[in-house]
Amino acid sequence: MEKDPLEEIVKADGWPAPNVRHVGAPSRAGDAKLWLAHALEFLIRRVRGWKSSFKASGIRGLGRRPRTTLKVAGYPGNHAFQVRNGALVPGPGLYHRWRTISALFPRPLESLLDIGCCKGYFVVEAAAHPSCRHAVGIDVSPAFVGIARAVQSLVGRTNAEFHLARLHDVAQDPALYRGPFQTVLLINAYHYLYWGSFLDEHAALEHEAILSSLARVSTGRLILSSPLDVTACGRAIRAKAARQAEAGCQYTRQRFVEIARTFFDVELRGQLGRRPLYVLDRRG
Ligand SMILES: C[S@@+](CC[C@H](N)C(=O)[O-])C[C@H]1O[C@@H](n2cnc3c(N)ncnc32)[C@H](O)[C@@H]1O
Repeated sequence: MEKDPLEEIVKADGWPAPNVRHVGAPSRAGDAKLWLAHALEFLIRRVRGWKSSFKASGIRGLGRRPRTTLKVAGYPGNHAFQVRNGALVPGPGLYHRWRTISALFPRPLESLLDIGCCKGYFVVEAAAHPSCRHAVGIDVSPAFVGIARAVQSLVGRTNAEFHLARLHDVAQDPALYRGPFQTVLLINAYHYLYWGSFLDEHAALEHEAILSSLARVSTGRLILSSPLDVTACGRAIRAKAARQAEAGCQYTRQRFVEIARTFFDVELRGQLGRRPLYVLDRRG
């Protein structure tokens, strides 16, 4: 049974907070602090259980109860974070993904679109870059867009915004969404654009349509990681691929790269978890 993501929000201490602080872009000192806090949190959680550790492990002062707390958990498990004292505190998996992805950002980061932005972590963090004029997230789930907006207003990041929209909508009129964008993220959602999902049945069933839309919304760099072979996808997609043999045959990494090269310079940059991680730079 699907979980309602909104059920996963826990509010405490008078949300939304009247007094929130902005977080800076990641720094080495910030990293060390976060990892230390995660390690401590893990130990405390093991000993005292989640609830008590949550109170005890405020990043800005262990043992001090955070003034504002929002826990964002549930599906997908690797997009879990908390808002404490107006700062985003990612779970270890999300933290690692953010560090890997943000290391690939063009410098300076000017603008960003996150397609399938979920609960908005990457968008709100990107908006913290001083050079970032605007960071925009789109998703097809009203619940996720609602959560992302709540997080954004809690953190007070006015250059971040979220829309209930498809890639196709933005590609039709990028300016309506503040595009086109210097940097575009498509993380763990490409397969849904190709095959559709329970949230949005619309399926492109071909790479050309998706990649030409991605080219329309981007002026610089697309950072993409997703399962790009049918065998790497979940059961529902494997079943669709079995029913639609032609679209299934085309859903390979090799075919994806071939078509992507008509719009972008394509470079494989290792993996993000179990998925290939690509940097695609817009041609001409
Ligand atoms: C596995 S999550 C990845 C979320 C986020 N990009 C990350 O990496 O943490 C997939 C996201 O894609 C969104 N999604 C599902 N079907 C979609 C579709 N057809 N078009 C756009 N987004 C979709 C979901 O709502 C969800 O937020």
